[in-house]
Amino acid sequence: MDKRPIGMFDSGVGGLTVLHECLLAHPNEDFIYLGDTGRFPYGPRSIEEIRGYAWQIASHLISLDVKLMVVACNSATAAALPWLQERLDASIVGAVHPESEAAVQTTRNRRVGVMATEATIESGSYQRALLELDAGLEVIAQPCPNLASLIQAGDVSSPDMVKTVKSYTEPLKQAGVDTVILGCTHYPLVTPMLQRSLGKDIVLINSARETAREVGEVLERKGIVNDPDREGEYSFLCTGDVDSFVSVGAPFLQMPFEQVQRVEVEELERAGIA
Ligand code: DGL
Repeated sequence: MDKRPIGMFDSGVGGLTVLHECLLAHPNEDFIYLGDTGRFPYGPRSIEEIRGYAWQIASHLISLDVKLMVVACNSATAAALPWLQERLDASIVGAVHPESEAAVQTTRNRRVGVMATEATIESGSYQRALLELDAGLEVIAQPCPNLASLIQAGDVSSPDMVKTVKSYTEPLKQAGVDTVILGCTHYPLVTPMLQRSLGKDIVLINSARETAREVGEVLERKGIVNDPDREGEYSFLCTGDVDSFVSVGAPFLQMPFEQVQRVEVEELERAGIA
């Protein structure tokens, strides 16, 4: 048993979809979530820049004595996961691999689509993860610039949103995929629109849910689960305004927010140097 909290980080509020799934799947665990809202979005940034931010945040969370770190952000996972794992003396899990495994297990025609930010697609990490699991797969990787920001802006039924979603789903339909990975923390919020646009026969793989499954497997196998009879607590740090973290984050978490504190970017920068 290990009573220490699990650390989780994201480019902002999107990773709250991963925390949401973890709170359902692992209600006895404590979580500290850090949302880098002051520097959102990560998707249009370079791999090097995202890696630098991930390094600072991971270093800060390690200083809080977390037993496991979860890179909830798909863009940060794609840019930095192996890089962090090589450099930090900590157990770190991320997105990408768990949902790739689920997609390979699901597809029948071995054509898998991936929807994600520009940074995630450019990194090639989904393509690598999927082909490592099934070298004969056809992977259609669709960058979706601006989709996360539109979802975060909240007007999910605006004509702009409908048009944007269609422009990203159409190439996947044309390519004949039967399975699509929602490779960004924000996309579960528009699952019905994506399902309708892609067609009812295409299976959507929710990256947040698969990451939560992986977290459970890691806790079990390493023997670091918390007391199963307790109710866990969760708290938040964010680099932007606290009130907007709560208001913008509410549809992503769908749970009460209690302890939310601001952490300055300068403090994270110092943690990254130490
Ligand atoms: N958490 C980010 C991701 O999953 C949201 C998008 C962004 O920061 O650009 O890629």
